Amino acid sequence: MQHQQLVTIQQHLYEEQRRNYPQASGEFSWLLSGITLATKIIGDRVRRAGLTDILGVTGDQNVQGELVQKLDVFANQALLHCLGSRGNVAIMASEEGEHAIVVDRDRKHGKYVVVFDPLDGSSNIDVNVNVGTIFSILRREPDATGTREPLADVLQPGRKQLAAGYVVYGSSTMLVYTTGHGVYGFTLDPSIGAYIISHERITMPKQGSLYSVNEANSDTFPEGYRRYLAHLRSGEAGKTYSSRYIGSLVADFHRTLLKGGVFLYPPTIHYPQGKLRLMYEANPIAFLAEQAGGRAIDGQGDILDLQPTALHQRTPLIVGSQKEIEMLLQFVR
Ligand code: AHG
Ligand code: MN
Ligand code: MN
Repeated sequence: MQHQQLVTIQQHLYEEQRRNYPQASGEFSWLLSGITLATKIIGDRVRRAGLTDILGVTGDQNVQGELVQKLDVFANQALLHCLGSRGNVAIMASEEGEHAIVVDRDRKHGKYVVVFDPLDGSSNIDVNVNVGTIFSILRREPDATGTREPLADVLQPGRKQLAAGYVVYGSSTMLVYTTGHGVYGFTLDPSIGAYIISHERITMPKQGSLYSVNEANSDTFPEGYRRYLAHLRSGEAGKTYSSRYIGSLVADFHRTLLKGGVFLYPPTIHYPQGKLRLMYEANPIAFLAEQAGGRAIDGQGDILDLQPTALHQRTPLIVGSQKEIEMLLQFVR
């Protein structure tokens, strides 16, 4: 019987580093193992959320002014702990923290900046619907003057990302990531606690037959978006589209990555700049989409080209197959 080779994420990273960065120090894979450890801890709590009185809200509000769910706080703590002790993380920035956290001021050790959304889709926790963790890894650029503010090290365009990925806590726990050499998927085998490769080089279909948007907002979308959605529904795009919306970006994107189509969170009356955050939602998702042959725009240009100006800034996000994005630009640009 052919034994399916048991390729763990560590082994995959080692082989990828040897193939693409022969001189690599192994620092990056050590960093990523900090993230995978944190997601195993988070996943374990997500799986037992109903049992350990972790449901419901803490009553606090985060910098977004949103009710903080207990699992958001737990997930944030898990990432801060696992990454903070890696020794090569310079700065961490989280959706749950107003300011970036400087772990290592001197520029000898701290090589990486990690930005993350510790728990994405938190409104879905109490109803047992998929949630996720999203991360983005940047290099801390050398600074001859030694005067650069930590925030300037964080606010880099998405094109500068070294790696990006997410974990979706769904019917299985899956980690999907890229370092710029394609998109790979790993499924957690709970019996051994290891992420095992399950999707070699994920590529997004050139056109799909699903669109994913919160229809409740559609009356307040800018005109071009409303005509675009009507176009998809009319069959004039050569496909009969159906609609899927989970309300967790990670889950809605994961489906779009595998099946194609489009996910969009356009500007709305309540969120004129869009609701999703550039640094730890749109940028990592956009890097993955491009690496899988798809595209991610803000309605005008590519998400990855945007120069961030604030840690929690929001952006419209339209991400998916080339065909659906090309059509969107005809209606919106
Ligand atoms: P988070 O839970 O990290 O705040 O993210 C929630 C986001 C994203 O996951 C999802 O796509 C979007 O909120 C859903 O927003 P609506 O409920 O307004 O559709
Ligand atoms: Mn989120
Ligand atoms: Mn979140």
